[in-house]
Amino acid sequence: MQTPTILVVDDEELIRWSLTTRLKEDGYRLLEAETAADALKRCRDGVDLVLLDYRLPDADGLTVLKQIKDADPDTLVILLTAYASVDTAVEAMKHGAYHYANKPFDVDEIALLVEKALETTQLRREVRALRATQARPYSLDRIVGVSPAIAGTRALLQKIAASPASTVLLTGESGTGKDLAAKVLHFASARASRPFMNITCSALPEALLESELFGHERGAFTGADRQKRGLIESADGGTVFLDEIGEMVPALQAKLLRFLEEKTFKRVGGSADLKVDVRVIAATNRNLQEEVRQGHFREDLYYRLNVLPIVLPPLRERREDIPGLVHFYIDSYNTEFKKRVRGIDADAMTLLERYPWPGNVRELRNAIERAMLLADGDTLVPGDFPAMTSSALRLGDRVELPAGGIDLEQLERSLVVQALERTAWNQTKAAALLGVNRDQIRYRIEKFQLEKPS
Ligand SMILES: Nc1ncnc2c1ncn2[C@@H]1O[C@H](COP(=O)(O)OP(=O)(O)OP(=O)(O)O)[C@@H](O)[C@H]1O
Ligand SMILES: [Mg+2]
Repeated sequence: MQTPTILVVDDEELIRWSLTTRLKEDGYRLLEAETAADALKRCRDGVDLVLLDYRLPDADGLTVLKQIKDADPDTLVILLTAYASVDTAVEAMKHGAYHYANKPFDVDEIALLVEKALETTQLRREVRALRATQARPYSLDRIVGVSPAIAGTRALLQKIAASPASTVLLTGESGTGKDLAAKVLHFASARASRPFMNITCSALPEALLESELFGHERGAFTGADRQKRGLIESADGGTVFLDEIGEMVPALQAKLLRFLEEKTFKRVGGSADLKVDVRVIAATNRNLQEEVRQGHFREDLYYRLNVLPIVLPPLRERREDIPGLVHFYIDSYNTEFKKRVRGIDADAMTLLERYPWPGNVRELRNAIERAMLLADGDTLVPGDFPAMTSSALRLGDRVELPAGGIDLEQLERSLVVQALERTAWNQTKAAALLGVNRDQIRYRIEKFQLEKPS
């Protein structure tokens, strides 16, 4: 293990001195910070553990704790507090603090606490690396997310996996995880050792799709020079995943319905009823109910499929899943690319949390992959996400209007003020941030009667 780095954050010089002096004896590398802002900056240089004073001149300890944890959940934080109430302690642990200590403290005790804490992270990192390389690729916890929707999906998949229920319908926009959910369901079930067969209904013309699914007898059609088993037959005991079911033509829909109802089918050109035991998982990114209304999709098949519906909501409706996914992909690409990116800074995380993700988790995965390939530092920063920084708001149709409406004038004013504040009233830069020219910024400064603070 490399020499662990410890950051001591306290505005009192004496405290910093006593802690750093004692901890240096144990062979650690020590950094110091007096303020919250300074502490966050220092964290970017790669810190394993932070001794964090609860009361800092520019922020309170809990806020800083949260930001440190967002940037790298592996960073350990021990909170130091002079007036420990049970409440602050509980809050601290809830926000992911490893421990807290009361001031005045005994430096030897702190040193012991630090040693223990560092042992835990080392172990945690090793376990995670092992899991990433050896775990079954489609276990339930491969579905990352803390939102009620995703937690519910995991629970539902687990239940269905254990049940004999045979048909499941997965819906959700492109990139929301339908393929993933289908595989997880298969591999969590007793069918895991049997085949998982996957077919995309839109990829083949009707006749071919039918014979792919149900197989055909010799001579069934020109070119059928021998008998062929279909996917459904080959998957016996396992799972058939019918992707893009919304694109299936009505004639085939009828045959599929018959199969779902009776569990038997005929090969194309055959007369014998064949019986198999498969679970059918269907998926679509279309609104099937709407397709039914418009007469493109059979209503009876819809109801047959919809017995166990699983809806994967778009990522923009479960933004609390974003940090977990970001860290999941940082870990995976660290392994895959043999990189040592430690985390992401608070600004970049905020950027990703606000971005609308029209391509959902797939787009987020690609963004992290790209950022990790190109990043110079060991922490991802906003500049590593050029697509998000430049086009987040140009995707105008994705800026959601709140249900209760909005005051457009007020919004404009607020954006102009923010741009000016961020650029210390440099009008050219502020204009660039807003995608307008300098005259247009000047016009708005007058319109809103904004004044540069002295
Ligand atoms: N909750 C999740 N946790 C981890 N990875 C996820 C999650 N959801 C989706 N992914 C990943 O995002 C990518 C896209 O997911 P997937 O292919 O399952 O989407 P899909 O809904 O089938 O999209 P499409 O409709 O375009 O086929 C995959 O790499 C998948 O592993
Ligand atoms: Mg898919």
